[in-house]
Amino acid sequence: MCFKLGPMNANPSPTLPEIILPLDLDTPREAWRVIERIGGDLKWVKVGLQMYLRWGDGFVKELAKEGFSIFLDLKLFDIPNTVASAIRSIGDLPVALTTLHTLGGVPMMRAAVEARDRVAPHIRLLGVTILTSMDVATMNRVGIPGEVGYEVVRLAGLARESGVDGVVCSPQELGLLQAAGVRDLIFVTPGVRPADASADDQSRIMTPGEAVRAGARYLVIGRPITAAPDPAAAFRAINEEMIQAFRA
Ligand code: C5P
Repeated sequence: MCFKLGPMNANPSPTLPEIILPLDLDTPREAWRVIERIGGDLKWVKVGLQMYLRWGDGFVKELAKEGFSIFLDLKLFDIPNTVASAIRSIGDLPVALTTLHTLGGVPMMRAAVEARDRVAPHIRLLGVTILTSMDVATMNRVGIPGEVGYEVVRLAGLARESGVDGVVCSPQELGLLQAAGVRDLIFVTPGVRPADASADDQSRIMTPGEAVRAGARYLVIGRPITAAPDPAAAFRAINEEMIQAFRA
């Protein structure tokens, strides 16, 4: 199998919107089956806790060897020293993006940025704002009052102040971020569902076309593709919808 080499560094404005495929599966064998069915149009894959905790660096390196750009979604959230140490631990991995929770605060994010600058300059750090699975009631119940959009803009401001390269949010918040003048970050958006797909556990969703029209350029779209009877057809249809929205 030979894939063309994808971009190792996330470009804030790629020429076309990209799908980042989360490999939220049990085994590398299942992941490779999906990847092979989709074929050469797939450039970005995301390895999250499900795969990384079980299959570790070996799986990440296998993906890199095949030329994929890799988003290692660790969602770090701990004291600054521990988060900085975790960044050092992945410093020699061929990953382009990783995540930390903005709710960890500015000192934690700054510690991560400093560690990254020292040992992993090839990795872009993304701050997770409010998880796309959370609606306003769930967010309020954990003690964050007000509206989700306001909170996402506020947390993105903290990420920017800390030197983090981008944020993870719902495409629903991209307009608010733009209006607030938060433009110079990489925006990565899960919470994307085709009109006929199940929302699953996601709350703040948009269709691929709506998301691209709202400004999304890196769209994380998992189960509508990986759980589809024909993942290749699902990937193609979603990609087509995104490109049409981009060109309209
Ligand atoms: O299958 P689905 O499209 O819902 O997958 C979304 C992916 O994006 C999951 O891997 C999830 O961990 C991740 N994610 C998210 N919301 C965030 C950050 C990451 O759904 N705020």
